Amino acid sequence: MNTQLKTQPTVFVIFGGTGDLNARKLAPALYNLYLEGWLPEHFAFIGTGRTKLTDEAFRERMLNDINEFSRSGKVTDEQWQGFEPNIYYQAADVQDAKTYKDFGKKIKALEADWKTPANVLYYLAVAPNFFPIIAENLAKAGLTEDTERTRIIIEKPFGHDLESAKELNALLGRIFEEKQIYRIDHYLGKETVQNIMAFRFANAIMEPLWNREHIEHVQISVTENLGVGERTGYYDGSGALRDMIQNHLLQLLCIVAMEPPVRFSAEEVRNRKVDVLRAMRRFTPESVREQAVRGQYASGWIEGQQVPGYR
Ligand SMILES: NC(=O)c1ccc[n+]([C@@H]2O[C@H](COP(=O)([O-])OP(=O)(O)OC[C@H]3O[C@@H](n4cnc5c(N)ncnc54)[C@H](OP(=O)(O)O)[C@@H]3O)[C@@H](O)[C@H]2O)c1
Repeated sequence: MNTQLKTQPTVFVIFGGTGDLNARKLAPALYNLYLEGWLPEHFAFIGTGRTKLTDEAFRERMLNDINEFSRSGKVTDEQWQGFEPNIYYQAADVQDAKTYKDFGKKIKALEADWKTPANVLYYLAVAPNFFPIIAENLAKAGLTEDTERTRIIIEKPFGHDLESAKELNALLGRIFEEKQIYRIDHYLGKETVQNIMAFRFANAIMEPLWNREHIEHVQISVTENLGVGERTGYYDGSGALRDMIQNHLLQLLCIVAMEPPVRFSAEEVRNRKVDVLRAMRRFTPESVREQAVRGQYASGWIEGQQVPGYR
């Protein structure tokens, strides 16, 4: 374990602490980091949302979510007693400037308690229309000034088209230094995806064969057990292409097709991925009609269960 990583007290501020992303992914992930000893001695997890909750009620929610969604199974009393006191909740509207003053005070109080400055991560698990509002308000409240200690983490979707993605990038660039901005694609954290790199570059049998002389074609299939469920509204707004392909699947394609990076630093890996994207033939509005097939599910049966159609 990297002891340097462990030494820095850290505050995780989760905008959207009452939402689905926190329940299913972030809370279990942080808890597992804690279990595996990756969190520093001093850490705090501040969830936010407009819902009025006490710290205790939020802790209870997190416990239920972790029990339901964590890969490490049900929480034991002993583990929870160590983790729980580090969880806080602040009812807050992200559009209200006072929210950010309150965060500032809370972070200062934790730092005073710990007798040392903390790293602060702002995780934006809220609808994308709030990304600019939060970034600007954080800056106005002076919460982004320490470029060594503050980070902002943005989930997909990063804009809804090229222009809006560029706008968001430009806005973040005015407020943060690049090293402070993490654009998260959680797909890349999946074990199978992470294994592709090792499989390709550290495997003496595969490495010399992984090229156009030996591979006829590549198919990337995304099969999910989870249906659209209650998320029709979200899907209708974003579409499967934006939700899956331009982010997760293009990343996978890059990992499968990229040249070996000179070293496995974030920047070098990113550069080799960009090479792949630059080398790709682009669809044109005309060619897409001939080269892409799209469809929506009708009602039917999956593993013996009747399931509804998309509409
Ligand atoms: N869910 C996933 O698996 C997933 C995966 C990848 C990316 N994402 C992205 O992550 C983001 C969040 O998704 P989600 O599924 O978690 O959405 P969600 O369940 O609808 O949660 C939205 C969160 O935003 C909070 N919120 C809404 N308006 C607010 C306001 N004015 N002030 C403060 N908080 C406010 C809500 O809290 P209150 O209701 O308490 O105000 C809630 O905690 C979206 O951008 C989504 O595209 C989600």
